[in-house]
Parts: sequence; structure tokens; C-alpha cells
Amino acid sequence: MFKTLEWTDEGVRLIDQTRLPAEESYLTCATYEDVADAIRRMVVRGAPAIGVAAAMGIALGLRDAEGDHVSELRRKFDEICETMAETRPTAVNLFWAIRRMRARFEALSDEPVERIRRELVAEAQRMYLEDIAANEAMGRNGAVLMPSAGGVLTHCNAGALATCGYGTALGVIRAAVEGGKKIHVYADETRPFLQGSRLTAWELQKDGIPTTVIADNMAGAMMSQGKVAAVVVGADRIAANGDVANKIGTYTVAVLAREHGIPFYVAAPFSTVDLDTPDGSRIPIEQRASREVTHIAGKPVAPEGVKVENPAFDVTPAKYVAGIITERGVARPPYEESLKQLAEAATVEIS
Ligand code: MRU
Repeated sequence: MFKTLEWTDEGVRLIDQTRLPAEESYLTCATYEDVADAIRRMVVRGAPAIGVAAAMGIALGLRDAEGDHVSELRRKFDEICETMAETRPTAVNLFWAIRRMRARFEALSDEPVERIRRELVAEAQRMYLEDIAANEAMGRNGAVLMPSAGGVLTHCNAGALATCGYGTALGVIRAAVEGGKKIHVYADETRPFLQGSRLTAWELQKDGIPTTVIADNMAGAMMSQGKVAAVVVGADRIAANGDVANKIGTYTVAVLAREHGIPFYVAAPFSTVDLDTPDGSRIPIEQRASREVTHIAGKPVAPEGVKVENPAFDVTPAKYVAGIITERGVARPPYEESLKQLAEAATVEIS
């Protein structure tokens, strides 16, 4: 089995997602700048994986930072955290992870610097294990919502490759299949970066889960033909009112699902819920390079100089979301209340 990301003594080891599915290769980031660059270039991507990669990058930067006094270390620590915060703006897990590393640093600020360095590495490793445990719990909570047999459509990649393992939306599908459900996955190819065809199909195929790749514009036809019984996707940020930012095209899928009376579920760890953001209109949407749209595998598919828009995410209004599957339970509308209740619930333990 592949590992999406991993702490090693040499640095943060990542499966290079820009090269999948043609090549399964790994990249070891030896500095925190390398980790930041890998997040920016989407060598590692997916909200939970970005968060833990950033935490590991911070731990790496601090481990190798010079300084015998906490004040020197803190200066470097702030610089590292700022670099990480500037990589990608939408996935709130990144900022959650930075906040958590900061809190750990501050809690240890009276300790010898060597201990701070060690403990921050341990904190990042803990986050890694917690993410896998959260995904498994999400799987248990969400599997019951999946049909006992039939098609389940997903958009982008919210699988093992987008997390530390098992996946959020794909974790729910995996748990349902492990529980004996006969699910056939429809994977939207997810233009322009093709996370669906390149990554979701790759990892589901490895697991032997029946999967059909469709171009994004085929989802409505599949639904109208009765091939899709449920939709489950991941999220990059969930606002306090239940609005969901996820990969561009998710909104279209949600509207189509409503039109066809198909339940649309979102699966995400609680670290994706941003109670400080009241609704989706306040979620910053990353704009990426035009080249991702105008070129496929280095070849032009649009005339040179044409105008392009490339928002990486869209916002699905809460009214389209049948349930938000988290490791703490499933939130149902009205989300202002259910998300607040889950915020007070206990989190899962690492087994
Ligand atoms: O641009 P990406 O590939 O990082 O976007 C990923 C998504 O939109 C995922 O659906 C989301 O991060 C959830 S991953 C468990």
C-alpha cells in the first residue's frame, strides 16, 4: 500500500501526485521550503493531507533551525508558519494545523529548545495518526448512508491520497464496501487538474472497488438514467451555516443531485469545519494558473492568448447538503445548530 505522506529522518516523504497514475514515485522534502513548494505545486493536495504536510514541514523547519534560545527559535518558527500559510488559501485544515503547532510551541516555551524541537515533531506525527483514525470513524458513521447496492458518484479526490490514509468521501465508500455493500463508483474526471480520473480511479482500482470514470459533463446524464443512488464528496472548508467549499464543479453536482432527488453528502474531519466563517461567501477561493485549463499533459487545448478563469473551488449552499459526515457524527440541517453541537462533542481517540 502506498503512503501519501510520511515523516522520515531525512524529511517529509510524499507520493508525487502530479505524476500519477503514470508513475508511482516519491519525493523527499528535506527543508520546510521544499514542503511549502510541494503543497503549492500540488505534489501533495487534499485538505487533510495539506494540513498534516504543513505540520510536518513546520516540525522539519524547526528541527533544523539554528538557535539556543526560545526567542531565536520563535522568530524562525513564525517565519516558517508564515511561509506555510501562504501556500494555498482555501483548505482551512492548513490554518488549523498551523494554529495547533503554534499552540504546542507556546505550551512548551519554558522548556529547553531541544525538547521543543522533539515535541513538535511528535505533535505532527500525532496529527498524522489522528487523521487516519478520524477517517476510519467517518467511514463507520457514513457507511450506513450509502445504498446497499448501486452507483455512488464522487467528485475530485477525497481518498487516501487526499489524507493520511483511507480517505474521507472514499473512506465512507471503502467502509460501505468492507461492510458488504455492492457499490459502483462514478468518478468525475474533475477538470482541470483531473484528480478524479488520475487519482480517485487509481486508488479505487488498487482496492478492487468497481469504478467508472466519467467526464464532468456526463454526471447529469448518469443521474437521469438512474445510475447514481447517492453522491459523496469531500470538503476544503465548511462554514458555520453548512455551506461547503470543495473542488470546482461540486456545486454543479449538488444542484443536479437535488434535481434528481439523489442525496448529496459531504464527508470531512472536524478540522475542515470553520465556525469562524459564518457562510460560504466569506471563504477565500484560490485562483490557479490559466495553463491548467489551456493545456493537458503539456499540450495546448485552447488557442494561445484566450481569456481563462480557473477558480480551484466553488461553494455549495447548505440547502443542497443532505448530511455532513464527520468523525464525531453526522450533522443534519439546520447546520448552525448541528455543527455547533458536534463542536462540543468528544473527538476520536487514536486506536
Ligand atoms: O485542489 P485539491 O486537489 O487540493 O482539492 C481537493 C478537494 O477539493 C478535495 O475534495 C478536498 O480537499 C477534500 S480531501 C479529503
